[in-house]
Amino acid sequence: MTSTPQASHSNLAKRAFHRLSIRQKIVVGYAVALGIAILGTIAGLEIGNRYYQKARYQMIMADEEGGLLSELQGAFLEIQSHQQEIVPLLKQPQILQAENSKLLIHVTETEKLLERLQEFSQTNSQKDLHAFLEKHEMTVTEYFQQFKLLLQQLVSNGKLQEESEARSLIWQFYQNPAAIRFNEFIHELTKFTILVQEHQEQADVAQNQAATLQAQIIIGSILFSTALATVLALYTSRTIAHPIKAVTAVAKQVTKEANFDLQVPVITKDEVGELAISLNQLIQQVKKLLDEQQAETQARLIQSEKMISLGKMLAGVAHEIINPVNFISGNLVHAKNYTDDILTLLKTYKTEIPNPPISVQLLAEEIDLEFLEVDLQKLLSSIEFGADRTREIAISLKDFSRLDEGEIQFVDIHVCLNSTLVILQNRLKKGINIVRNYGDVPHIPGYPGLLYQVFMNLLSNAIDALEEKTKDNPHFLPEITITTELGDLNLVFVRIGDNGSGISLENQSKIFETFFTTKPRGIGTGLGLAITYQIVVEKHGGKITCKSELDKGTEFTVFLPMNSK
Ligand SMILES: Nc1ncnc2c1ncn2[C@@H]1O[C@H](COP(=O)(O)OP(=O)(O)O)[C@@H](O)[C@H]1O
Ligand SMILES: [Mg+2]
Repeated sequence: MTSTPQASHSNLAKRAFHRLSIRQKIVVGYAVALGIAILGTIAGLEIGNRYYQKARYQMIMADEEGGLLSELQGAFLEIQSHQQEIVPLLKQPQILQAENSKLLIHVTETEKLLERLQEFSQTNSQKDLHAFLEKHEMTVTEYFQQFKLLLQQLVSNGKLQEESEARSLIWQFYQNPAAIRFNEFIHELTKFTILVQEHQEQADVAQNQAATLQAQIIIGSILFSTALATVLALYTSRTIAHPIKAVTAVAKQVTKEANFDLQVPVITKDEVGELAISLNQLIQQVKKLLDEQQAETQARLIQSEKMISLGKMLAGVAHEIINPVNFISGNLVHAKNYTDDILTLLKTYKTEIPNPPISVQLLAEEIDLEFLEVDLQKLLSSIEFGADRTREIAISLKDFSRLDEGEIQFVDIHVCLNSTLVILQNRLKKGINIVRNYGDVPHIPGYPGLLYQVFMNLLSNAIDALEEKTKDNPHFLPEITITTELGDLNLVFVRIGDNGSGISLENQSKIFETFFTTKPRGIGTGLGLAITYQIVVEKHGGKITCKSELDKGTEFTVFLPMNSK
């Protein structure tokens, strides 16, 4: 579909408007409305004023023209009335002469008046008047010439003509074409004057109309700008409210449906647009975090599944070991008694029969009876020791693999620590010295299986750190110090310190994060301390801290409350 040029213009304007900030939108809206009001008023004043001035000028001109014309009319009328007095005064020559000189003065004044009119018409571009005067200029000049001639003829050489002669001269003057044309001119002058009066009236009307027009333009522009301001205000509020509504709707939908694939439409480039972009980023961030959390939970689940099955297996194996070991220990008592009895019997034989037959003597030598008598007892003691040790390990393993949280019990921390050390015996016997600074601490409420796990994780990490340091330094004396003490605030402190490789400052802030490990793949899981933190803080309401210095060693302190949560 092709768009019309008007449509593309309006689209362009819309896009430009969307690019403005809200503040700019409001300012532009008001500026346009106010601008139209001001421009309208100025234009109204200007246009009205121009029309008014024009009408006023026309009126002044028409007034002046009218005034001059009526003056001219008056002058001509006066001259004509004097002319009519000539005949009756023929008998009174003195008066007539005086009248004639007055008449001549009038003529001269009228000529001057005509000159003024001509000047007026030229300087003020009064074309009609100018044409009118030019048309009749000769008529007036000729008439005045004829008239002055008549007056001279009437009085020649200081004497008056005969009355009859005078009458005939006057008669001839009236009959002459110049006088006839002059009369016509007077007639046209009257018509012209009426026309000028009409112009005067028209100019008056135009002046009033100009004032009305001025008022109409001003009122019109104010009304138009008010209407435009209203439309703009509605449009602006709509363009601001519409994107906000869209953003809110999507935000609500995201929350309601927990659908983080949704995105807010970014319609404008103003503050609302920025809000939409930020919200989209937030939604994406939440989605990413949720995905990560899901993956983490999954990994933890797998790990704990593995631990549970391992724990079950361990418990089973420990149980299977304990039974035969008990059996051995139980029978060892009898074996020892029987051996003691047999040895006592042998001794009795030796004293009662000092010289036994030679075959008996030979056999006793062959089996090294004297050594056998001593070694058999040692052998039985060592079997007893081995059985006891095996039972101890098997019991520790059984305790340790009690993964079920079950109910909170009063746990002997020292038993827990010792059992864990027994299980770790294989790794410890490579030369790690264990220092036990056990204080007088009460049994604390907790989950024994989980506490075993805590100490197992901390001690395993300490052994790892010590082994790492031993690799580079064969003369190093590895040591683990376990301290328990009763602290303030009803807390039991368990400190597990080592003089191993230590933790860099940078890593110290990360060690409790899930999957953080510095150990090679397959050895480190990065779960030990994360699980430990969870057990101590969340399950027991305690606290765990770490103090470490690179190459010097590390000390973890577990704070366990003496009252259950
Ligand atoms: N006693 C310690 N000495 C030195 N580093 C330690 C000690 N305990 C923990 N760490 C560091 O913390 C990291 C995380 O430990 P942990 O959560 O148990 O995971 P993992 O043992 O599987 O690496 C270890 O990789 C190690 O870098
Ligand atoms: Mg670990």
